[in-house]
Amino acid sequence: MREVMLAKSAGFCYGVRRAVELARRTAEGGGNCWMLGDLIHNRFVVEDLARRGIRKTADSALLGPDDTVIIRSHGELKSVLDALEQRGVRCVNATCPNVIRIQRLVAQAEAEGRQPVIIGEAAHPEVAGIASWCLSPLVFDGPESVQAWLDTPESKREIPMTVVAQTTCIRELFESSWKIIKKECTNVKIFDTICDATHKRQSEAAEIASQVDVMVVVGDRKSANTKHLTEICMQSCSRVLQIEAADELSADDFNGCSVAGLTAGASTPAGIIKEVYATMSEEIRAAEGKEESFEELLN
Ligand code: F3S
Repeated sequence: MREVMLAKSAGFCYGVRRAVELARRTAEGGGNCWMLGDLIHNRFVVEDLARRGIRKTADSALLGPDDTVIIRSHGELKSVLDALEQRGVRCVNATCPNVIRIQRLVAQAEAEGRQPVIIGEAAHPEVAGIASWCLSPLVFDGPESVQAWLDTPESKREIPMTVVAQTTCIRELFESSWKIIKKECTNVKIFDTICDATHKRQSEAAEIASQVDVMVVVGDRKSANTKHLTEICMQSCSRVLQIEAADELSADDFNGCSVAGLTAGASTPAGIIKEVYATMSEEIRAAEGKEESFEELLN
């Protein structure tokens, strides 16, 4: 039996990898490079980009024609992008194509007289960005809030609706939400916009969590997809640890554990996963006396 079961889907997704590569290439070109807040939800990556010369600002109004700004993979508010363009700021758009598709879907829905409905976390930058592509979106974080809205006098069930999901939404949560809307409202179009990478990562995490004594989820505490992975793992494993880096683990975490599982959020670099894997292997090896390399498991 393996000591540590490593999820093959752990770590950078296509959209995050693309954003980081675009940012690094932009930095190599020199000049005044900026990111608006964190480019991705991982402090190690953000610190690395800062060392390469990409500065962070929360105030896009300070940027001008001499500046280049890299738009994060989650996307940005439409009003911010419009203002940057008007001021002549060069924008390198690293918004994930999956997110751009949702932005277009909600804009098109509204143009067609439909009510855009987003299932996701209203405060998350991706959702705030998507919502900004239309004038009056409805954002629900799950079936309870959908039902609560339907129970209010303001809900208009006869209005045509277009329902989309935050790319990292938990699938069950999305499905239970749209099913309520579909049942109660007369004209509903549903677009399953949960990204494939997220879906695979969540399924694999659930599968591994159901077979191990301890499940470790690595990712930034601000990362929504990491948080969702933790929630999913907790459904089938009673000992789930969410950490940002290997130094948060201790031997006590693996007491009585013969098999542990490891997955990581979409913004977690391979180097961090490798360190966590090595630390976990050390602890478990003490119990079972067996070793397997990180590279072997990825191949
Ligand atoms: Fe894009 Fe999916 Fe990653 S939406 S940023 S590929 S999690």
